[in-house]
Amino acid sequence: MKFPAYRGRRLRASAGLRNMARETRLSPENLIYPMFVNYGKGVREPISSMPGCDRLSVDNLAKEAKEIASLGVPAVILFGIPETKDEVGSSALASDGVVQNAIREIKGAVPSLVVLTDVCIDEYTTHGHCGLVDKSGRVLNDPTLEVLAKMAVSHAKAGADMVAPSDMMDGRVGAIRKALDGSGFSELPIMAYSAKYASGFYGPFRDACDSAPKFGDRSTYQMDPANGREAMLEVSADIQEGADIIMVKPALSYLDLISEVRRRFDVPVAAYNVSGEYSMVKAAAEKGWIDGQRVMMEILLSIKRAGADMILTYHAKEAAKLLG
Ligand code: PBG
Repeated sequence: MKFPAYRGRRLRASAGLRNMARETRLSPENLIYPMFVNYGKGVREPISSMPGCDRLSVDNLAKEAKEIASLGVPAVILFGIPETKDEVGSSALASDGVVQNAIREIKGAVPSLVVLTDVCIDEYTTHGHCGLVDKSGRVLNDPTLEVLAKMAVSHAKAGADMVAPSDMMDGRVGAIRKALDGSGFSELPIMAYSAKYASGFYGPFRDACDSAPKFGDRSTYQMDPANGREAMLEVSADIQEGADIIMVKPALSYLDLISEVRRRFDVPVAAYNVSGEYSMVKAAAEKGWIDGQRVMMEILLSIKRAGADMILTYHAKEAAKLLG
């Protein structure tokens, strides 16, 4: 045999050959766009730590939804910024809450756009934790399940196509499934934030929603970044409890887990390319240190290559425009 036997450059010689040999293809259809829904009217407020992302009030959503759909992005996920917060996150359950109103507005404007909702109370609580808190500051598991289940049902009633619990309480997928089934929504799917890590990469999102915990941190419920095997336990528990799609979050420091989850489980896998991952690209690009668009596409492709079927990303609109 002539040396070298393997000549990788043969299939890299032209754009046509590279295109034929390409293993992974990214499409706008793979993307889900996160949106921040603000209370009030006429609000389009840029989020300073997330250049290109805005907080929008409900009256600005129809136009935005049409733009997203016209780019070929099939889905959005909604986060609420309510006017009032309290200890127990009551505004998360209101039938005329920001997210509930947003669902109706978007589904009215673009019925084909898939609307997912984040189910978690941290944006609605004064303490900023994802669960109910007792006097000593402990985040309570089982009492929180009831609130999450009510929140999911209230989103379903407003017309959500899918709910996505991100709180990391144990047993929440089962509790939400049971509540949905009991309220006539047995067909409504659940995307579970299954392997969600206690991550520094959520910083800009917490700025956007003013949802950073006022005391302590989230490490008693979100996963330890050191643990990979444990992610498999979380995923399999969620599937047993009724999750239809599972998620790994964040994406980039956890590509190994996206790949492992893809190999071990047969449900669709989502990955969340989170706020800090987005803002790092924007910041370095602003400084001229990297080519922002090129790095964005490389990042999204790498998440897909690792095994994600769908990617929640603030880059969705920009990437979809480039993908055409
Ligand atoms: C919790 C939630 C968070 C994110 C999505 N859902 C914040 C957190 O856990 O602190 C973060 C998303 C991102 O950083 O882009 N409701």
